[in-house]
Amino acid sequence: TGMFTYDPGFTSTASCESQITYIDGDEGVLLYRGYPIEQLAEHGDFLETCYLLLEGELPTAAQKADFDYRVTRHTMVHEQMARFFQGFRRDAHPMAVMVGSIGAMSAFYHDSTDISDPHQRMVASMRMIAKIPTLAAMAYKYTVGQPFVYPLNSLDYTSNFLRMCFAVPAEEYKVNPVLSRALDRIFILHADHEQNASTSTVRLAGSSGANPFACIAAGTACLWGPAHGGANEAALKMLEEIGSVENIPKYIAKAKDKNDPFRLMGFGHRVYKNYDPRAKIMQKTTHEVLNELGIKDDPLLDVAIELERIALSDSYFIEKKLYPNIDFYSGITLKAMGFPTSMFTALFALARTVGWIAQWKEMIEDPSQRIGRPRQLYTGSPQREYTPIGRR
Ligand code: CMC
Repeated sequence: TGMFTYDPGFTSTASCESQITYIDGDEGVLLYRGYPIEQLAEHGDFLETCYLLLEGELPTAAQKADFDYRVTRHTMVHEQMARFFQGFRRDAHPMAVMVGSIGAMSAFYHDSTDISDPHQRMVASMRMIAKIPTLAAMAYKYTVGQPFVYPLNSLDYTSNFLRMCFAVPAEEYKVNPVLSRALDRIFILHADHEQNASTSTVRLAGSSGANPFACIAAGTACLWGPAHGGANEAALKMLEEIGSVENIPKYIAKAKDKNDPFRLMGFGHRVYKNYDPRAKIMQKTTHEVLNELGIKDDPLLDVAIELERIALSDSYFIEKKLYPNIDFYSGITLKAMGFPTSMFTALFALARTVGWIAQWKEMIEDPSQRIGRPRQLYTGSPQREYTPIGRR
């Protein structure tokens, strides 16, 4: 391989040093700043996780109150943004709207372009954590043709988000605290995952000194794909397509067939080769939400449980160490809460925003930071002479 190490898909290349998230894929361990994901999801809330990821320590009560207040102050988007939205087709996919509107924030908040100023970096971070839920809710409202709902900042972060999505004019809306807590936990599970594709994209975009909103838009674009954040949408569509338990063997056979591109969506992970600790918490959350909503027999849940059971006892999946990942159960939960499939990846983007920002900030503040610039192994034509068009 000449001068360079050839590592397609970066399976064995560390691109940075980081103090934010630790994963042990063989043991199924995920730590944010040293704290196990299970403990954060059980005892903490999402904004506490945001503070932890950004600042490196859990906040004191006073720091938490201050942080919540600062995020809350930034939840409104400029009214012009509402007009900006009108340019999207009404049936636009919410992720298309997210990529576009997050990118557009760089045009609304020019002061954040000066990333050499720590204060501006902080303000940009707060703006994104606060405004991306507002944009996600607007993306949803836009696709269903309902008026936008302004943030209500007396509510906590996730309850406010639910209200912006599901409140309609002239009708009373009361946030269900069980659902709000469950969604908050889903946000915690998605908050960071070290150098995954979208986070690496944010770092690469940011390594040139680009505007932070533009960098997060780049990460959002990367997240959209079905191999990454788009898997939650793809997994639910797959469960719907399978439809009932009798059809499962057919799909298992398809997934194992080398000549069939079909994969079990929500299965497998580049790093987790034992189990995905997030999937375990997610499965529990799914049951809590279905219980709360009084959904006794969800046919999709039956298919999911049986699919998991069959796959985990099949030698193909065992040998390749393919386990359900976080996206396998998240779809069922979000659907039960009332989110359409097309919103699932936008919710992932909302939650991952803090991870992207924490990683971006860590990179900008790292004195050894250089522009990201991979090399290649050239396999094209050797040098040759130009032929004029008439002689080709
Ligand atoms: N169903 C069937 N076979 C699979 C699957 C699957 N879901 N995943 C991997 N394999 C097979 C694959 O065909 C390959 O077989 P072989 O070695 O014989 O060629 C082997 O397992 C290794 O797969 P890979 O594609 O080389 O592994 P990777 O680390 O490059 O890809 C992955 C990881 C997550 C993209 C992949 O497992 C996948 O496509 N899963 C389905 C999509 C999904 O659920 N993605 C969400 C990941 S978690 C959340 C997130 O990142 O957003």
